Amino acid sequence: MRILLVASECVPWAKAGGLGDVVAALAPALAERGHEVRVVLPRYRSIDVAASGFVDAGSACIHLGRGIEQWIGVHEARLAGTVGVWLIECDRFFGGPGIYGSGAWDSDEPTRFGFLSKAALALALDRGFVPDVVHAHDWPTALACAWVARAEEAGLPGLSGAASVLTVHNVEYQGRFSTSVWPWLGLPEEWLSPELFGDQDGLNLLKGGAALADLVTTVSPTHAREMCGEPGGHGLGGFFAARADRLVGILNGVDEERWDPATDPLLPVQYSAGDLSGKIFCRAELQARLGLEARADVPIVGMVSRFAPQKGFDLVAQVVPAFVEGGAMQFVVVGSGDAATEAFVRGLKERVPGSVGVFIGYSEDMAHLAEAGADLFLMPSLYEPCGLNQMYSMRYGTLPIVRATGGLADTVEDACDDGSRGTGFVFAQATAEALEGALARALALWTEAPTVFDRLRQRAMSRRHTWQAAAVQYEQAYVAACEHHARLRAVA
Ligand code: ADP
Ligand code: GLC
Repeated sequence: MRILLVASECVPWAKAGGLGDVVAALAPALAERGHEVRVVLPRYRSIDVAASGFVDAGSACIHLGRGIEQWIGVHEARLAGTVGVWLIECDRFFGGPGIYGSGAWDSDEPTRFGFLSKAALALALDRGFVPDVVHAHDWPTALACAWVARAEEAGLPGLSGAASVLTVHNVEYQGRFSTSVWPWLGLPEEWLSPELFGDQDGLNLLKGGAALADLVTTVSPTHAREMCGEPGGHGLGGFFAARADRLVGILNGVDEERWDPATDPLLPVQYSAGDLSGKIFCRAELQARLGLEARADVPIVGMVSRFAPQKGFDLVAQVVPAFVEGGAMQFVVVGSGDAATEAFVRGLKERVPGSVGVFIGYSEDMAHLAEAGADLFLMPSLYEPCGLNQMYSMRYGTLPIVRATGGLADTVEDACDDGSRGTGFVFAQATAEALEGALARALALWTEAPTVFDRLRQRAMSRRHTWQAAAVQYEQAYVAACEHHARLRAVA
């Protein structure tokens, strides 16, 4: 199959969260199965094209609504040696700082990302890459599904045989904006109906894209069920329930090239399930880098995360300080985001400096070191469509403590006290009591039953969540999308 992935993120060039990891790992996994895959991404100002291995690939003219023409520059590189990547350069939309804007109601986000979506499709055709499937990701590229659905009218007749798939990585972010830019995009006025892009007095890009896509996927089977109700649907529960037959949950994988403690170049010493001795050096390095007391007799609990309400920091603030202040654990946080969470972790470090390590900002080095150096990894998410860090931490022998939601429920098995079962510590309710219980259980096992803890660690390290397995399921999803598309065309 020929597959065109259109996305706002892809590592190593652009990443705000797990979406960037997923696109970068899924594309080569599909190519490995014999598919022809291309990725299209904006050229953000932060991407140094020459230093990132891109070469100039000419230009193209993109047509939008109201007769607007916009020229783009194109840069080309290869991902993992097998996947062609096109960067779309257009300073008017992507010349500012960062990936996403403020999200303000009247911001130009629909225009920026609407433009990306249309330009990706037009560019692919311009370069003779006629896809069987266009695979869009989250609200920023959901509009690609709209143009695929009306390829002929949109001046993209080469796409009339293509099916579209939309993956919802995070249903909380729906791309809700003012309708004022709609005419500019060149899509029909009647598509602003409540069945498609209309949402009260505005636009809902995710909903419209999902309604027009041949198939919608999300990133774990449990989250696919959660999305068909509330609160998991974030207001779209009924909408997804009505389309449940075209919604599939496919678990993300671990990019084993980047996340393997046996080969990870970002660690001071590598280690494996067979020889864990290197983990002790990673632990000591983590303590030294973040100013923690060099203690071997107290467990380190780590978090690497966007600071967003989704990630359960409210629960952390109610539960963790007592454990840290009581000397039961050291706490390491790597992340950035909302100011209240930042203030909370900084404040805790001020109160118990030798027991709390904080890195505010984005750092691949610190993320890898925290995964390797910690003993336990905390993810008390209120919701988590998949989550990648719990899978990384299992692979690094760092047992995750998670709430049973979305992909966390699908990937972490709760430990029993004798270690005969389990890969982490799972709690059900989003309450301080439930988190406190799971954390206490994990700390006690580390302190009082090291042999049991090691047994759990070995099991967690042997669990595999591969992109190869996910790629097989995406392939099946693409086939289902093509069949749906063919049925629609037959009745039209
Ligand atoms: P989400 O996409 O909701 O943020 P995921 O668990 O799917 O959650 O993915 C988060 C990704 O971002 C992981 O690869 C994680 O290591 C990375 N990450 C999050 N915060 C940071 C940070 N401050 N520095 C480095 N990597 C980070
Ligand atoms: C989202 C979700 C996260 C998921 C990631 C990649 O940002 O919050 O759970 O792992 O996308 O699919």
